[in-house]
Amino acid sequence: MCGIVGYVGRRQAAPLLLEGLRRLEYRGYDSAGLAVLENGTLRLHKKQGKIDQGLAPLLHRQPLAGSLGIGHTRWATHGPPSDENSHPHLDQTGRIAVVHNGVIENFETLKQRLVAAGHTFTSATDTEVLAHLIGEHYARLGRGDVGLHPLTQAVVNALPEVTGTYGIAVVCSEHPGLIVGARRGSPLIVGIGEGEHLLASDAAALAAYTRQVVYLNDYEVVTLSAERFEVHTLGRGPTAVQVSQLDFSPESAEKGAFAHFMLKEIFEQPQTVRNALRGRLDYDGAMARFGGLNMTTAELRAVDRVVITACGTSWHAGLVGEYLLEELAHLPTEVEYASEFRYRNAPFDKHTLLLVITQSGETLDTLAGLRETKRRGHKVLGLCNVVGSTIAREADGGIYLHAGPEIGVASTKAFTSQVTVLVLFALFMGRIRMLSPQDGARLIRALEAIPGQLEWVLGQNDRIRQIALKYKDAADFLFLGRQYSFPVALEGALKLKEISYIHAEGYPAAEMKHGPIALVDPETPCVFVAPLDRIYDKTRSNIEEVKARRGPVIAITTEGNTDLAAKADDLLFVPETLDCLTPLLTVVPLQLLAYHIAVARGCDVDKPRNLAKSVTVE
Ligand code: AGP
Ligand code: GLU
Repeated sequence: MCGIVGYVGRRQAAPLLLEGLRRLEYRGYDSAGLAVLENGTLRLHKKQGKIDQGLAPLLHRQPLAGSLGIGHTRWATHGPPSDENSHPHLDQTGRIAVVHNGVIENFETLKQRLVAAGHTFTSATDTEVLAHLIGEHYARLGRGDVGLHPLTQAVVNALPEVTGTYGIAVVCSEHPGLIVGARRGSPLIVGIGEGEHLLASDAAALAAYTRQVVYLNDYEVVTLSAERFEVHTLGRGPTAVQVSQLDFSPESAEKGAFAHFMLKEIFEQPQTVRNALRGRLDYDGAMARFGGLNMTTAELRAVDRVVITACGTSWHAGLVGEYLLEELAHLPTEVEYASEFRYRNAPFDKHTLLLVITQSGETLDTLAGLRETKRRGHKVLGLCNVVGSTIAREADGGIYLHAGPEIGVASTKAFTSQVTVLVLFALFMGRIRMLSPQDGARLIRALEAIPGQLEWVLGQNDRIRQIALKYKDAADFLFLGRQYSFPVALEGALKLKEISYIHAEGYPAAEMKHGPIALVDPETPCVFVAPLDRIYDKTRSNIEEVKARRGPVIAITTEGNTDLAAKADDLLFVPETLDCLTPLLTVVPLQLLAYHIAVARGCDVDKPRNLAKSVTVE
């Protein structure tokens, strides 16, 4: 949630901060603001609404000059979106400005103490309390505080009083060439330039200026000037850093010729599935190979149970993973919502493996489950898309998706990349158990056909748009599927509701009989994911049950299957493949259906209301 940027160097800060915020806007966009140090005075502009509606026009009318500044694009947790609740927030003296990603859980207690000490507040946010706390410690700096820059010392002295999560950037009018950053639970990255340094929540804001970055860890505090930077770990002292190279270009984080990032990312899927497969198919061994599991084959062979934890779309991919691991590796597998898993006391024995699935690598609920499981001495593997993300760095090993930046808030290419990697992982785990070389080779052949088959499915885009226009005004949708198609039904429902704001529910198709069929009427479209798989006949019966109640049916089925022509109101086709690979194909018509319905309803497809791309709050 929310994105923060900071700049100190030889260039004008404001234009660079604004462009950086635009690159991070997908992380949260209910308001935005920036602070620039102009001739010794902190000048702030902050406005409710998206950047191009509020902040950018204001900055155009009233430019800010200065080569030091911080910026923020917000996803509100405390205090509604408004000008005064937008970041940056100032301390009592007005000489310190703070931008913050995260939640200060004890902000009320801190606020009461600060109000009693004479502090006055202008916002309803938790962040403003943090600004005042840092300002109070800055004012109280004494001789006992040596070795750190005064502003850094004030931040170091204040943070131990804070409960909750933060990624922050702090500037002070009395220190014109300095930014202090700190993180606990929310991401923060240093961008290393020539005579300049940057700070950002994620690399998308840095790629246009540098490819050299440092991913900060929890409890680290960084002091940045134009020429140098230092990292200090709370309670420990100076800390060595590892400089990494960004693995994507600025262009890959741009829309190109597409109307929306989401559409671009849907159409990238043939290539992103190829990327996920590249270098990981072992033809001789009829299995998969990975570079970063950091577990021996013997350790993986000893695994006798897998728990998968994730959120949202990644959780749906995890559900496909459950069916894959059970079918291909006969491994008992369960999938848990990360937000539930982290608080449960799930029994884990020494051969239970935790698999965390996350596009961003920063989802706090998923990260919390990883940390708790590692605390108990268990191995954790991470399936991540963002290189260098917190989860990617804290997992014992993992598999990168190589899907490139996913900017659209509604996750699309990440899902098919996650499923592809899960197929490869299940193939590997199966082939070190009971899966035969012949079955392994058959799966590899079918996998290699998927990118071309995805191109074929994408060729139905116009037809899908026509169907979308037919149903765009429905108030409710049902999405139904069995086995491998059940997680796809859930994903299709999530796509539709999160970008078109239409109520949609996904169910196992057979579950209809146990209640949901009461919802069926001529106004409620039922989308059936019904490829010609081993339980197709059962799904077809469910379609009959809906038709018998005059419910409109949209069916996704296998190319050449004419069986549903008289049953479904609208038919969409996918090429034939193995049952376990059908989610890679059947999800795409649902992504496009949701996209075109949302566009037809005038929704902001890439930045849907109330949402943000990376949920780094709890
Ligand atoms: C999916 O379209 C949503 N944007 C959301 O459910 C997302 O999948 C979820 O927040 C998990 O994100 P992650 O994969 O980055 O952990
Ligand atoms: N808790 C802060 C606020 O509500 C920051 C929210 C965020 O990280 O998006 O302003």
